[in-house]
Amino acid sequence: VREPDLTGRHVVVSAGGTREPLDPVRFLGNRSSGKQGYALARTAAARGARVTLIAANSALPDPAGVDVVPVGTAVQLREAVLKAAADADAVVMAAAVADFRPAAYAAGKIKKKDDREPEPIVLVRNPDILAEISRERARAGQVVVGFAAETDDVLANGRAKLKRKGCDLLVVNEVGERKTFGSEENEAVVLGADGSETPVAHGPKEALADTVWDLVAERLR
Ligand code: PMT
Repeated sequence: VREPDLTGRHVVVSAGGTREPLDPVRFLGNRSSGKQGYALARTAAARGARVTLIAANSALPDPAGVDVVPVGTAVQLREAVLKAAADADAVVMAAAVADFRPAAYAAGKIKKKDDREPEPIVLVRNPDILAEISRERARAGQVVVGFAAETDDVLANGRAKLKRKGCDLLVVNEVGERKTFGSEENEAVVLGADGSETPVAHGPKEALADTVWDLVAERLR
């Protein structure tokens, strides 16, 4: 058990994966279970923080003592994060957010027409929430942490993403159909805007979460 070094702090964590609806029965989604984000929420609460967890489509039970805000789409996630971030000391974006959403929503179920090829799905860009909160900084000294889910050139892509997003810390983890998504364990390198690189060995998602909070607490001091 760590020191209650986040006592008096308000932290916001996003978790899970957004779902972008096509019609009342279908959506574009991703494989995030919410486990990494929920581990971040639990460990922050254990270290004394007031925690707001913005949870996108996770089936996990609400962690004790954490304020949970359920959301569905990236646009809803953005609204909830911006609202909670207004008085937050730190924001950690562990949610897997869809970069694009279907341009149109069909009010009724899209029907299969036997004599015709299916219509292509046209996509439009979703807002980049991490880039926006990094740029705007609702509060002086607010620490903003992003995650990078990469399948190849993991570190090189992570370093470029850190610059592009403008956050203070970026947790770079490798993902695949059966890697990281849904598992109890993770491994990562946490990149700092100050050039620091903190490797975290394969282990429980809580251990990675605690390293993230160590680095956040250092920056809040
Ligand atoms: O939930 P689990 O099953 O435990 O899996 C954990 C995880 C793999 C989902 C998690 O560790 C993780 O990597 N989360 C980030 C997933 C993601 O969206 O990565 P990205 O590289 O596409 O996005 C980079 C960062 O920008 C992320 O912090 C993301 O929240 C944010 N983002 C992305 C797109 C967008 N439109 N807005 C954003 O804010």
